[in-house]
Amino acid sequence: MTSHSDINQATWNTWVDHDTQSEHHQDVARFRSTGSSLHSLEVHELGDVAGKTLLHLQCNMGADTLSWAQRGAQVTGIDLSDRAIAKAQELATASNTPARFITTDLYALPDHLSEQFDIVFTSYGVLWWLADLQRWALIVAAFIKPGGTFYMVDMHPFTNCLAVAETAPLSFTVVAPYAHPTEPLQVLSGTPDASVRTWTYSLGEVVTALMQAGLHLTFVHEHSMQFYQQFAVLERDADGWWRWPPATQPLPLLFSLKAEKPR
Ligand SMILES: C[S@@+](CC[C@H](N)C(=O)[O-])C[C@H]1O[C@@H](n2cnc3c(N)ncnc32)[C@H](O)[C@@H]1O
Repeated sequence: MTSHSDINQATWNTWVDHDTQSEHHQDVARFRSTGSSLHSLEVHELGDVAGKTLLHLQCNMGADTLSWAQRGAQVTGIDLSDRAIAKAQELATASNTPARFITTDLYALPDHLSEQFDIVFTSYGVLWWLADLQRWALIVAAFIKPGGTFYMVDMHPFTNCLAVAETAPLSFTVVAPYAHPTEPLQVLSGTPDASVRTWTYSLGEVVTALMQAGLHLTFVHEHSMQFYQQFAVLERDADGWWRWPPATQPLPLLFSLKAEKPR
């Protein structure tokens, strides 16, 4: 029987090869032209990475991974999509940036890597693809050195369960559960899609999973800005972030989280 992971891998391989207008290809183009695809948020909140080892989970085509390397980190990126990892390796070679990339399902990572890292990082569209949050949190924690850091930024779980009317007044329809469903949703951007297996997690579930894995939270921040035009009503600001129209009550669109592994 085809697994959830096989289905998502095939879909991501197709997107990497053919969806050349995607945010991911734009990240690659930004890295090629400026040396960084990172957003101000994670650069500011994670802080100085120079001289540190950094593991990037679900790194896609590696643009962010290589951007951390340009900031002095010694980087390893992993992703389920072999096509994405092939592109990441090409990008590392073309930009002469030292990096290691591994094709693997995150849940099989302990079969590929045994060392621990100063920083584990993951960002922008990651939890949605994962079937088991507790196992994810245990894997995250296992790969951090004692005294090391975990940082993530992802779509706020509110945005995964709401569809937003395309015209004023601002109104919302619930299209998916807020908390984790056992069976995959097979939904993307609020729309049914048979080629994906997706899951939601509430913010409480994310925080609890990481605490139960032994991490100590430094902060959980909720942001009313998004990295792409998730809903038609969002408007782009001067810094490139997508925000709710002025004068509307904003719901969070992203959350970011930092945690430490005790020594
Ligand atoms: C929205 S992208 C994240 C992109 C990321 N912000 C970046 O650095 O470009 C989600 C990534 O998760 C990967 N993925 C999905 N399920 C996975 C799994 N079980 N294990 C590892 N990677 C997975 C996909 O192949 C895809 O590259």
